[in-house]
Amino acid sequence: MQSPTACDLLIVGGEGDLALRKLYPALYALWRGNCLPEDFRIFAVSRRETPQAEFLRQVRNWFDASQAAQQFEENAWHQFTSRLTFHSLDATSPEALALLREETLNDSGRHLVVYLATPPAIFGPVCEAIKRAGLVRSNTRIVVEKPLGADRDSFLQINRQLTDIFEERQVYRIDHYLGKETVQNLLALRFANMFLEPLWNSKYIDNIQITVAESLGVTGRWEFYDGAGAMRDMLQNHLLQLLCLIAMEPPAHLEPTAVRNEKLKVLSCLRPLREDMLRDNVVLGQYVAGTSGGQSVPGYCEEEGAQAQSRTETFFAIKAHIDNWRWAGVPFYLRTGKRLQRQFSEIVVEFKPVPHSIFPEQRVMDAPNRLVIRLQPDETISLELMNKVAGLDVKVPLRTAALDLSFPEENEPGSTPDAYQRLLLDVIRENPTLFVRSDEVEEAWKWVDQIRALLDNAGKTPEKYTAGSWGPTAAVALVARDGRSWRE
Ligand code: BG6
Repeated sequence: MQSPTACDLLIVGGEGDLALRKLYPALYALWRGNCLPEDFRIFAVSRRETPQAEFLRQVRNWFDASQAAQQFEENAWHQFTSRLTFHSLDATSPEALALLREETLNDSGRHLVVYLATPPAIFGPVCEAIKRAGLVRSNTRIVVEKPLGADRDSFLQINRQLTDIFEERQVYRIDHYLGKETVQNLLALRFANMFLEPLWNSKYIDNIQITVAESLGVTGRWEFYDGAGAMRDMLQNHLLQLLCLIAMEPPAHLEPTAVRNEKLKVLSCLRPLREDMLRDNVVLGQYVAGTSGGQSVPGYCEEEGAQAQSRTETFFAIKAHIDNWRWAGVPFYLRTGKRLQRQFSEIVVEFKPVPHSIFPEQRVMDAPNRLVIRLQPDETISLELMNKVAGLDVKVPLRTAALDLSFPEENEPGSTPDAYQRLLLDVIRENPTLFVRSDEVEEAWKWVDQIRALLDNAGKTPEKYTAGSWGPTAAVALVARDGRSWRE
């Protein structure tokens, strides 16, 4: 999959938060790393009347606050911004887009990537306008990002607006977790090494934990978040995508269809819940005022723009099962929450204890091997093993030690690609492997919708937890009931 030699990127919502915070810094880093096609242009589109100089000032301000700023170089910045132009127009208007096409986008030999960095409410009208403006060609691609609906039905409706106009191969649905370096490393770890695969099943694995913990609250996004909650905002997409990569069967090759077929199979094997299972298997939480990073922080319902009462969950945990041969009986504990004690995302694969200990005085059976894949803040992979403490003690004292499997920092500091760099480049070179196919999104919604319906039916409300803690006590009980604990 090669980059085309000439490509245009049209960003609708070109002056919005996503574009400024994520897309331009990532594009600059790609440009500086010589990863973009030589003949590459970016058209930022927004309804606002912003002069080019003012637009570039904003781009620069956000860039300076980004990780990519470590790679700033005057000359590269100058070249990059000379390819980035702002266009004040209404992207739902076919006439306005047709004018842009006539002026600058008329060459059908150039690839065209349209990035909808807008709320889904205007996906339909923008796609229609793109089509009527004559911009849908076989080398056009469209990129969209969550929230893709609030349930299966609304997803299908949004999706139809895209697929009525574009073929599935042209639609790139971003889940930015799939662009994270360690997440891709997970594929390498599982499928480019021999030692794990024979152990990667219910015979040797006791349980798997996936945690995405955030120390931040919902500051500034209360209204959006209140309509979503942790299940829709994090579980349906990021957590389930991580689960897929951990649990899927080895694909026959790294082709997009093969990988996505295997992920889909995992989603379709997720065990549905019953109402009587809710109490012991699902935890909802909502934070109240507490302390985060040494500072007092308000509760969820006291955040800026909040309403006094809300039943939206800011914490969600579940004990899930994948009903297939490989994973029968292995619990997958998933949890995510805002305003937790620390910001970290981690996958922990906990192996079963050895069947018999020859170290009777050591608690070998209580210290299982663990493979810990950390996605953030640092990206590391370690294997916790039992190891002898050096010395002459006749009792052979043991301790757990972590074998660091992380990769050496081979490149300059700050050069680990950000998720958006990887994903933007993959769209340009037409590689959809790390993007979510529509049937995957649909299957994930089916599972989440079913649980949501049970919760609503049972009138289950979130348990309060103090900001800066590890979430509701029921989340501790969720794993403690099985004689286990979260790794924190
Ligand atoms: C987004 C959610 O998709 O992911 C946010 O909408 C969340 O609520 C964010 O904060 C987390 O992403 P990351 O990469 O910072 O872990």
